[in-house]
Amino acid sequence: MGTPAFNLHKFRAAQRAAPLSDFARELFAGLSQGVRSVSPKFFYDAEGSALFDRICELPEYYPTRTELRILTDSAAEIAGQIGPDAEIIEFGAGSLTKVRLLLDALERPRRYVPIDISGEHLEAAAARLRADYPALEVQPVVADYTMPLVLPSRESAGQRVGFFPGSTLGNFSPEEALSFLQLAHRLLRGGGLLLGVDLVKDPGRLHAAYNDAQGVTAAFNLNLLRRANAELGTDFDLEGFVHSAFYNSPLRRIEMHLVSRRAQEVTLDGQRFAFEEGETIHTENSHKFTIDGLRALAVQAGFRPAAVWTDPERLFSVHWLQAPASQ
Ligand code: AVI
Repeated sequence: MGTPAFNLHKFRAAQRAAPLSDFARELFAGLSQGVRSVSPKFFYDAEGSALFDRICELPEYYPTRTELRILTDSAAEIAGQIGPDAEIIEFGAGSLTKVRLLLDALERPRRYVPIDISGEHLEAAAARLRADYPALEVQPVVADYTMPLVLPSRESAGQRVGFFPGSTLGNFSPEEALSFLQLAHRLLRGGGLLLGVDLVKDPGRLHAAYNDAQGVTAAFNLNLLRRANAELGTDFDLEGFVHSAFYNSPLRRIEMHLVSRRAQEVTLDGQRFAFEEGETIHTENSHKFTIDGLRALAVQAGFRPAAVWTDPERLFSVHWLQAPASQ
């Protein structure tokens, strides 16, 4: 069975009848392509976010704990680079554990501006931080940080510092990663970006991190289909797809896919999509970097790479990238 042609007319008519969510629109377009894919940003509903938190605790998933260790061990040096009275702009509002490590090490941090698309998540996180850091101004911004945005004007004399931990940069395509860094550079002129990225390493170690023994990563991947069924009324058979993650070594990335176990059809918004046995939906890329490669990318975006911190096994890296005031 072949892939059905993307029926733009029918799709537009459906959009006029009832505006489709971003998820519906992107899934429809993604399933209509020859090589099917959907953006990993749709992993993170409440269930997906809870599964991701569990991934971060898995013995095989080294990135989170390794980055936390680097931030802990290098906190004083990082604080030295950043200096007093800084304003921290976090791209995405994570669990706040990582930024607390930073705030605890900094001299008189003045303002913390987490930017996230989900306002609810952001306010709850901001309230907890305000309670623990009464001297810190916490000013959340609800926005898509991959799009140009306007930040609250600067008031403090310290540096404006971007914080982008967790190797989320690796989930972007190389073009998206460059345009994010260019955008961050424009926002951070006169300050810098503290960026955490995962490093290229033994493929066996990478494979284990994305194919954990407890099957949490598999559940995280398959949750995308459960979410589509719940929110979009699709009829994905959750037993009919299986998690697959492998290291694509020429492209230096882990690829995650959902593989159809048999020939089957799925309906989205009145359109039927046929899957052959073994056909996949590509759900995520997780690019791995070399230190030199990341620094070269940062230079392309206008940054001046300065210090880099890693762990003894060189699994993960945290980069201090300066954004000169004028160039
Ligand atoms: C959020 N991101 C950096 C994770 C990663 O490793 O690429 C998402 C993830 N996917 C599977 N496990 C974790």
